[in-house]
Amino acid sequence: MEAVVITGASAGIGEEFARQLAVEGKHLVLVARRLERLETLAAELRERHNIEVACIDSDLADPAAPEQLVQALADQQITVTGLVNNAGFGDRGSFVDLDLKRQLDMIQVNVTSLVDLTWRLVPQLKQASDAFVLNVASTAAFQAGPNMAIYYATKAFVLSFSEALHEELKKTGIAVSALCPGATASEFAQEANMTDTLLFKSGTMTPEAVVSKALAGRRRAIVIPGLKNLILVWLGKVSPRMITRRLAGMLQA
Ligand SMILES: NC(=O)c1ccc[n+]([C@@H]2O[C@H](COP(=O)([O-])OP(=O)(O)OC[C@H]3O[C@@H](n4cnc5c(N)ncnc54)[C@H](OP(=O)(O)O)[C@@H]3O)[C@@H](O)[C@H]2O)c1
Repeated sequence: MEAVVITGASAGIGEEFARQLAVEGKHLVLVARRLERLETLAAELRERHNIEVACIDSDLADPAAPEQLVQALADQQITVTGLVNNAGFGDRGSFVDLDLKRQLDMIQVNVTSLVDLTWRLVPQLKQASDAFVLNVASTAAFQAGPNMAIYYATKAFVLSFSEALHEELKKTGIAVSALCPGATASEFAQEANMTDTLLFKSGTMTPEAVVSKALAGRRRAIVIPGLKNLILVWLGKVSPRMITRRLAGMLQA
């Protein structure tokens, strides 16, 4: 079957991508560690939308995972027509106090696995019409983030990489887009120890709103959902970096 692969589909923004792509009638491959959650979502989507949904249990912190995932797709005779690189996590705290292994895993999940999967799947995507790669970055991508140094740096990578790939792959028909949400209501804040930060207390978007903007803009290089996020990114661009990094640090102190 021809399908869209969504990493991190067991919760939050990734789960919502699955729901909205199912409405479009796309066959799906859901990827995450929590297989039970994926299976529950898959059963619901198959029933409601008459689509095929495969679930693959994968820990993207494992450097071998992307190759194994692509092999699993081949074994199941699945051809990929779209890729949503959404899996990711953050961790708040000072760089030297946070656990090193968790920060290295963050780079592996947020950056290395995203690059690895994209590289392996582009040849298949080139064969599809209207193919797309949607990489989930963040408004964190636009400035440095004291107290979340590695997370912000991973998202800066995702934004830069996606923009470059957008231009490189344009002629092949593959649309590459970086989605840059601000604070969004999901399991992310809990996982990143951020529930009590000014950033999350000052309002979140719903995954529904974020994903509908992302899918509507999937052929654009950068999608920043929400007027507040757009204004903050714009203000960041016209302000000195010394100011923006300090403000970012205050938002997650
Ligand atoms: N929420 C926000 O405020 C916000 C803002 C900007 C950007 N983002 C980005 O949006 C993306 C989705 O986050 P979310 O808000 O939806 O958070 P979430 O609700 O915590 O969901 C994160 C997803 O990533 C998966 N994941 C995490 N580690 C993984 C691993 N080692 N292997 C495979 N899958 C893994 C999780 O699945 P399992 O745990 O089942 O493996 C889960 O499905 C992330 O890239 C995040 O950085 C979020």
